[in-house]
Amino acid sequence: MNFETLEFEVKDNIGILSISRPNALNALNAKVINELGLFFESLDATVQCLILTGSGEKAFVAGADIKEMASIEKNAGEAFAKRGQTVFQLIENSPIPVIAAVNGFALGGGLELAMACDFIIASQNAKFGLPEVSLGLIPGLGGTQRLSRYIGKAKARLMVTTGDIYSAQKAYDWGLVAEVVEAEELKEKCLEMAASITKRSPLAVRLAKKSVTDGFELSQDDGMQLEAQLFGEAFASEDKVEGVNAFIEKRKPNFTGK
Ligand code: CAA
Repeated sequence: MNFETLEFEVKDNIGILSISRPNALNALNAKVINELGLFFESLDATVQCLILTGSGEKAFVAGADIKEMASIEKNAGEAFAKRGQTVFQLIENSPIPVIAAVNGFALGGGLELAMACDFIIASQNAKFGLPEVSLGLIPGLGGTQRLSRYIGKAKARLMVTTGDIYSAQKAYDWGLVAEVVEAEELKEKCLEMAASITKRSPLAVRLAKKSVTDGFELSQDDGMQLEAQLFGEAFASEDKVEGVNAFIEKRKPNFTGK
């Protein structure tokens, strides 16, 4: 599939998807959101882990496209938020892990996109914030909901009401970012993490992600039930037979994802 605003490469079952709007710091316009939706709907099993990043050195994504939003009114604004939220949910619920490799500004919709991924790895020069209030707006792509789940309600309210921008180190201290690395090591670090994932059972990885993601929104009792059910599903897989036998036979497993 050919995209105007996305670049994609895949090697050794690891995909790298870059958002590419060089003249707008990769800002999310309706086209990017639609292309992201199409991309995640058409992902096939050859990709077992995806790294999502922004093209160029300066930005992951500098937010929703402010110039496009200039002409949008109430109903179109709500529709933009709903469409974007649906696409970001596709990312959050994708059967494969998605690593956000944040290589510069992750502001507004950019931070919202990164938070829809499984975890965020940031370069030292990355900057994080939800500055929408300085435009007379609020975050509309899940930011007010996901941020408090990452860093707690008080710090989320601090970020959305001040609109201030934070360093990668602060984002790490607050638990928004899983790891901070030198800018030139970001791609290599994410590839290393992706490789740790792709050598495991794809089926078990999918079930483990689902158990954490879906369980997080449930009570602990309901989450335990979900976990037990998914644990049972793993027992019905060929990967479980292969993984357990490989351990007993002291060899490397050869997983098929079935
Ligand atoms: N939308 C559209 N264009 C953008 C953009 C955005 N979010 N961010 C940057 N650009 C454009 C700039 O207009 C500029 O284009 P021109 O050369 O044609 O003028 C180009 O990208 C380079 O940007 P700057 O010259 O501003 O670069 P800088 O280094 O001086 O500043 C920045 C970088 C601090 C990130 C600054 O660009 C900025 O503040 N961007 C906006 C950040 C923002 O407010 N994001 C939130 C958007 S609202 C949102 O996301 C709502 C939501 O939840 C859905």
